[in-house]
Amino acid sequence: MCGIIGYIGHRNIHPTILKGLERLEYRGYDSAGIAWLDSGIRVYKKAGKVHDLAALIAQEKLNSHIGIGHTRWATHGVPNDTNAHPHLSASGKLAIIHNGIIENYSILKQELLSKGYIFKSDTDTEVLINFIEDVQLCNNCSLEEAVRLALNKVVGAYGIVIISQDHPNTLIGARKSSPLVLGIGKDEFFIASDATPILEYTDRVIYLNDYEIAVIKDGMLFLNDIKNVPITPYIQKLEIQLEAIEKGGFEHFMLKEIFEQPTSITDCMRGRLDIPHKTIKLGGIEAHMDQLVHAPKITILACGTSWLAGMVAEYFLEELCRIPVEVQYASEFRYRNPIIQPGEIMLAISQSGETADTLAAIELAQAQGATVLGICNVVGSSIARATQAGIYTHAGPEIGVASTKAFTAQLTVLMLLALSLAQRRKTITSSKFEEIITELASIPDKVKAMLQHASKLKELANLFKSATNFLYLGRGYNYPVALEGALKLKELSYIHAEGYPAAEMKHGPIALIDEDMPVVFIATKDRIYEKIISNIQEVKARKGKIIAIVTQGDEHVKQLVDHIIEVPATHEALMPIVSVIPLQLLAYYIAVEKGCNVDQPRNLAKSVTVE
Ligand code: F6R
Repeated sequence: MCGIIGYIGHRNIHPTILKGLERLEYRGYDSAGIAWLDSGIRVYKKAGKVHDLAALIAQEKLNSHIGIGHTRWATHGVPNDTNAHPHLSASGKLAIIHNGIIENYSILKQELLSKGYIFKSDTDTEVLINFIEDVQLCNNCSLEEAVRLALNKVVGAYGIVIISQDHPNTLIGARKSSPLVLGIGKDEFFIASDATPILEYTDRVIYLNDYEIAVIKDGMLFLNDIKNVPITPYIQKLEIQLEAIEKGGFEHFMLKEIFEQPTSITDCMRGRLDIPHKTIKLGGIEAHMDQLVHAPKITILACGTSWLAGMVAEYFLEELCRIPVEVQYASEFRYRNPIIQPGEIMLAISQSGETADTLAAIELAQAQGATVLGICNVVGSSIARATQAGIYTHAGPEIGVASTKAFTAQLTVLMLLALSLAQRRKTITSSKFEEIITELASIPDKVKAMLQHASKLKELANLFKSATNFLYLGRGYNYPVALEGALKLKELSYIHAEGYPAAEMKHGPIALIDEDMPVVFIATKDRIYEKIISNIQEVKARKGKIIAIVTQGDEHVKQLVDHIIEVPATHEALMPIVSVIPLQLLAYYIAVEKGCNVDQPRNLAKSVTVE
């Protein structure tokens, strides 16, 4: 949600900020803006994409070494030029960019209105910068002190960067519940929502914690908390390579990420799965393994696709470890009054590690004494730091807004966890353990084989691009895969798609079926294969157009359906990692056929850092 970048140093901010905004655009893309300092603060902003902003300032003589830029995902106020960031204070001497929501903005606004302040935009951000200016005027204090005093009165979430006309050598950043990373280069500093725009300049970063304020002044960094207590900066080395955040010859990040899956799945097993010794090592949570072994229950907290990975894991954790598992939408859990049993373990799953609802659910669970373990992709992210311990998925940066490789990496890590736990709890025989780990090791090759049939999915996409509805049906392990297939299609191509447990169809959705309804069955061979065949028959009898994802060599289903896509055979609990691949490709190609913006679907943003 919103990408922000600030820079101070020896470079010209024009290319630095614009390039940074392009890298951050996946976080929000309904408007973009830039502000820099020369004789005063100059602000340019525009509804639309970063390239529209670039066109707007193309003719500007821009030779400044301090500036801020923002790419927006609207919360307060429609996406237009006025509501775009940066926002100026009333005097025009302060400019701010902000990611988050100031919850008490209307009280602050009323106070400021009564003092004669006038607002141009509908945003909470313009209120915040005026509030800071007002605090400075009333207290006759330094800008740093005004920011600190003001933030003490703010309720809500913020990642902010501020520049000031009166302090041309000062850049200020602060965070509460919205991510902020500080990049330290040679005589230069960056402050951004994530490391992607920083990576090509430096690998030395500081992840700001909540309630921390960073002031870069005359080339020096001062880090304090909101109570003015100095903090010793913890500088970390970024491990990501630049190629990982570039398209590498693919038309879209999403396609690149789909094709990266054989590698990302391998990377997430590396150093963890030891086939010769038949062991699994999950270093990050080793200290909590005993607690997990004796846990009376595991609750999984997540949102969106990560929640669906949790759903698949619910099936195999219960099956292999014989522990009751519950999967909760973090957004619902956080407002419930959950009953947490003594010893219960929470698993929070998140690609970005920044999802606001998941973070809030973690805080609630921890406040009630629960141990929360994280499964995150982004190293150093808020959820990775908020949880007691965790496992990284190591899928590499996921830039395409629709999650693909993060999902299969989450499933892989969750399976490693389930197997390790089952082994320690003695709920799995050694032959079954061996069978599944051997199969797991072969999954990257099976995914690779699947990807070779991408052109078939492209053909199907061409046939079905004009459909207005889709049904996705699956049972058992493939039921969450059906939900994920439907989610991918609707978010990318804006076609209404519904995922359903195949057997539940007859309790309602079957009424939707006619010759115009495409129905995707995930009907791979597993213990309930025969049952899903009956469901296919039911749809066929009502003339639905059936696309079936089947196990290689399945001649039976071929006779019943209109189109089949074969996937390599594997253990049923691992099948979701393979059977989701054609669904990702189908959604991708339909969106491309329809001319949709695949990497930046409308109304969405990559990490959902607001409620
Ligand atoms: C769908 C998608 C979203 C995310 C959800 C959770 O393709 O990407 O549904 O899965 O917003 O995000 P994370 O995993 O970052 O917590």
